[in-house]
Amino acid sequence: MSSLDETEAIYVRELGIDDIAPIYHLGEGLFTSDLYPYLYRTWDEWEVIGLYNTDPEYCLVAETDGELAGFILGTIITKASWTYGYILWLGVSPKYQRRGVADKLVDKVVARMIEDGARFMLVDTDPTNTSALKFFNRKGFGNTRQHIFLSMNLSKHEYYGRLIDYEHQKAERAGYKRSRPAIRARKPDSIANEVVLNPLAGESQTTKDQSSI
Ligand SMILES: CC(C)(COP(=O)(O)OP(=O)(O)OC[C@H]1O[C@@H](n2cnc3c(N)ncnc32)[C@H](O)[C@@H]1OP(=O)(O)O)[C@@H](O)C(=O)NCCC(=O)NCCS
Repeated sequence: MSSLDETEAIYVRELGIDDIAPIYHLGEGLFTSDLYPYLYRTWDEWEVIGLYNTDPEYCLVAETDGELAGFILGTIITKASWTYGYILWLGVSPKYQRRGVADKLVDKVVARMIEDGARFMLVDTDPTNTSALKFFNRKGFGNTRQHIFLSMNLSKHEYYGRLIDYEHQKAERAGYKRSRPAIRARKPDSIANEVVLNPLAGESQTTKDQSSI
């Protein structure tokens, strides 16, 4: 590993509010849909904002020459008598990769987690993410266990697809109603609730309100 020279020392500090947008954008460039679809789907501004609010002590950034070089976002899980440190997100700008930035970020966050009682560390990533796997193996993470993620296109599902159609129709009806003043009294709430709670059952039974428009 070639480390940065004196003028490009890596400085690790806690994440500040102004780091949220740059970190999100750096992550956007790293967790791409073609490489890591699951990471891509789960990465958004709220990941950064949420962890910044709940776990600020485990949200760190690395800077080099005043430039954002990388970030780490983690949390602590306490279960029975065990305290786990969990690295949720780690990213290093391509410009600064293979220079020890992630190394430093992980060391710093693990040290903080140890201070707070962690005796076990967890991390997960895409099984095809060889750079991260090599990195974490080198750091001492092992005991790899595959976790299967399943997905489903709801529009193509027989039952859920009909629910989606129903929601579209409902939105269209609402738009139509909004554009014209209501001329009939509202249904009693109990009937309205029945329709909402059982959308498919109500689909073929057009209510008085619907038939009037
Ligand atoms: C994984 C990642 C965080 C590593 O950051 P980094 O700052 O480059 O890592 P470091 O310089 O501290 O450590 C480098 C070591 O990790 C391993 N490594 C890192 N990138 C590697 C790559 N592309 N190929 C092979 N090994 C790699 C090697 O063991 C390397 O040591 P070496 O350079 O002496 O061979 C970085 O590649 C990255 O941001 N990847 C995209 C985001 C991601 O996958 N995050 C992790 C899941 S949330």
